Amino acid sequence: MRSFLFLGLSVLGLVAVACFPQNTAEYIATDQDFVGYSKWTFVDKVTGNSDATKGAHLSENPNASRTIYIKNNADRTDKGQFPIGTTLVKQVTDKNNNLLMMTAMVKRGGGFNKEGGGWEWFVLDPKTGRIALDEKGAATRGAIAMCNQCHVNTEENDFVFTR
Ligand code: HEC
Repeated sequence: MRSFLFLGLSVLGLVAVACFPQNTAEYIATDQDFVGYSKWTFVDKVTGNSDATKGAHLSENPNASRTIYIKNNADRTDKGQFPIGTTLVKQVTDKNNNLLMMTAMVKRGGGFNKEGGGWEWFVLDPKTGRIALDEKGAATRGAIAMCNQCHVNTEENDFVFTR
C-alpha cells in the first residue's frame, strides 16, 4: 500500500514538472548574475546631461562617465523585445576610474512590472557589486517607479536607451 502511495505521488510529481515548466516564464536575478559584468559586451560610454537623463545617473557631474554592458549579447525577438533573462549593467566612474554608482536592469518577465516592459530594476553597491541594501536592509530591486517613469520614454525600444 505504502509503495503504491509513493508511486502515485512520484507520478503526480512528474506530471506537475512536465505541465508547469519552470524558469521559462520568469527570471529572478541574484547577486551572482552581475559578477564579471565589465567583461560582457560593451554597449556605450557617455558623459554629460541631456533631456533624456534629466540629471539621473550622476549625469550632472561633468567628471563622471557612464558605461553600459550587456550580458551574452542578447538578441531581440521579432517584436523588438529583449528575451527574458537579458541583463544590462551601467556603471558610473570618475576620471580616475573610481566606481561612483551602479545600476542594472534584468528582463524578468512572467507578468512582472508590466508597465515597465517586464524589466526588474536594480541599484548595485559599487563597493561589492552586489544588490544594494536600503537603510532598512531591504534589497534595492523591483518595479521601481522612478526608473519606470523615465525609461518609459524609450518604451518603443523596450525601455532601453543605448541598445
Ligand atoms: C530621468 C531619467 C532616468 C531615470 C530616473 C533612470 N534612468 Fe536609467 N538611463 C537613463 C538614460 C538617458 C540612459 C542612457 C544612458 C545614459 O545617458 O546614461 C539610461 C541607462 C540605463 C541603463 C543602461 C541601459 C539603457 O537603458 O541604456 C540602466 C541599466 C539603467 N539606466 C538603470 C536605471 C535604474 C535601475 C534606474 C532607477 C534606479 C534608472 N535607470 C533611472 C535615464 C534614466
